[in-house]
Amino acid sequence: MVKPIHVLSGPNLNLLGTREPEIYGKDTLDDVRARCEARAESHGCTVVFRQSNHEGMLIDWVQEARESASALVINPAGYGHTSIALLDALKTLSIPVIECHLSNPAAREDFRRHTYVSLAATGIVSGFGAASYELAIDAAFGLIGVK
Ligand code: DQA
Repeated sequence: MVKPIHVLSGPNLNLLGTREPEIYGKDTLDDVRARCEARAESHGCTVVFRQSNHEGMLIDWVQEARESASALVINPAGYGHTSIALLDALKTLSIPVIECHLSNPAAREDFRRHTYVSLAATGIVSGFGAASYELAIDAAFGLIGVK
């Protein structure tokens, strides 16, 4: 039995659907969760889907993934651009880490062009709206060898 894929979302993503919808789309986080669950189910697997506005909470969940996840998908949101502590936690993982963004940060303000999380990411999916999460899950399954 393959371990679940853990999907973490960072600050302000609880407001998806109403937060700058012209950038992040109209899907709510619950919509994204449903899409992730359906995608995982189509691979015969499950997801643990969580969101927090708190850096320490995200770090605790990254540490939990060390034992209980087969791969980690993370949209670090603003913390990707600021958090060395989150990077340090991610660097302790020996499972695939897929960084995921709804928008394409590289095409936005200069300060979004750098993410610390990328230094620990196996790969990055960005710019496809809610579909970025599904593509990240597909990539995770590819990396862990689940068809
Ligand atoms: C984001 C991009 C980040 O720059 C931003 O701080 C977010 C969301 C995205 O999903 O496009 O909160 O990670």
